[in-house]
Amino acid sequence: MNDKFSKIGFILAVAGSAVGLGNAWKFPTLVGTNGGSAFIILYLLLTFLVSFVIFLGEISIGKLSGKDPVNAYKMLAPKNAKFWSLAGFCIVGSVLIFSFYSVIMGWILKYCVSSVYYLPTTVDESGAVFSALLTSDLGVILFYYTVSVLLTFWIVSKGIVGGIERLNVWMMPALFIFLVIMLLFSFSMSGFSESAKFMLKPDFSALNKDSVLAALGLAFFTLSLGVGTIITYAASLPDKTDILKSSLSIVFINILIGVMMGLIVFTFIFEFGADPKEQGPGLVFISLATLFSKLGIVGNIFAVMFFVSLFFAALTSAVSMIEPSALYLINTFKMSRKKALSVILAFVYIMGVLCIFSYQATTSEYLTFFGKSFFDCVDYFTSNILMPISGILIAIFVGYIMNKSSLEELFIPYTGEIGFKIWYILLRTVAPLAVAIIMINQIFFS
Ligand code: PHE
Repeated sequence: MNDKFSKIGFILAVAGSAVGLGNAWKFPTLVGTNGGSAFIILYLLLTFLVSFVIFLGEISIGKLSGKDPVNAYKMLAPKNAKFWSLAGFCIVGSVLIFSFYSVIMGWILKYCVSSVYYLPTTVDESGAVFSALLTSDLGVILFYYTVSVLLTFWIVSKGIVGGIERLNVWMMPALFIFLVIMLLFSFSMSGFSESAKFMLKPDFSALNKDSVLAALGLAFFTLSLGVGTIITYAASLPDKTDILKSSLSIVFINILIGVMMGLIVFTFIFEFGADPKEQGPGLVFISLATLFSKLGIVGNIFAVMFFVSLFFAALTSAVSMIEPSALYLINTFKMSRKKALSVILAFVYIMGVLCIFSYQATTSEYLTFFGKSFFDCVDYFTSNILMPISGILIAIFVGYIMNKSSLEELFIPYTGEIGFKIWYILLRTVAPLAVAIIMINQIFFS
């Protein structure tokens, strides 16, 4: 038997997995470049028509089996169990995501520490500092990377309740409080109203085909779909939990934190006249780091709080990337948790170091494949190939293979008959088709 989360522990742990770097910089950038709230509306629509539908599919696989993804598929498939258990190896995806995610956690941790005493004052200086970290300060990045990895594994080694639930139960509220404090502070700045307008005013003319693809990709990544995380957490879902209400709360928290992050980031960008279209790491590690310096000592406090919040968001996601494989090794090979984690640690540590080396000036040429660094290859392979294929398999498995009456028994008490029917139809039609379309588009037409 697995440990079971408490009801609130489950919501916070899944929300903790969902809220991560995807919300912190993908969400704000995409909202900024795709017509503000027009993009948010599109994102909500796709979340409910596709990702939330698959999310509930993963919940049903986890809850009805009580097992890790590989053994869950095996147990629930009425026939061809061997074939379906292959779909459970999507857990490799979460370990691969961890390989580069933990490197970014290392960058964030370094910024938490250095922001205490130093903030770059110009964008050029800031760019130089960030690029030195990526391309030449090997010792520094290895140090912070190692600390981030060990911290994640230490938490997972304490198990579902003593490690993952405990972490999320205090870290998620702490993250929320930090964000509220930062938001209140942003509110007092003149850039806030422009930021709010930029984020919230819908401009439907800015939406195009790429916005749809980006929104769907984001909705998938931020809900941690297709890599076994939700299946694994749902295996520890306590009985008699209102699945619909809990899942909706998780989606709500996920969107709320994305919007809060966006408002904070863009207040600074507008207050100091930086470029709101700057993307991803550049936005956070270069633009923002410089803008904080304009506030003197308050800026240092703000910067530390901001990077600590990012680190919290990332850490609660990181633990959810390791647990699926750990549970698989424990269930299948009867390994102890410590032993299972040592095996995974050895693998991800090497992968992460390769990601780091693929950005270092002296080694990058040996770690570039198809014109992409090893780091970017792992990101591309997991987000654009593995996650969508696994999403389609989940929809087909739950929609066509699994026993329908067990699904009805699980969901109808919370969704009602009509809610169940709508979900089931979406799961069998719109959801897998939509994911197949994005995937084909992303691979062949971008
Ligand atoms: N949802 C996390 C984020 O937005 C990423 C993640 C993906 C976490 C897959 C777990 C599994 O950053």
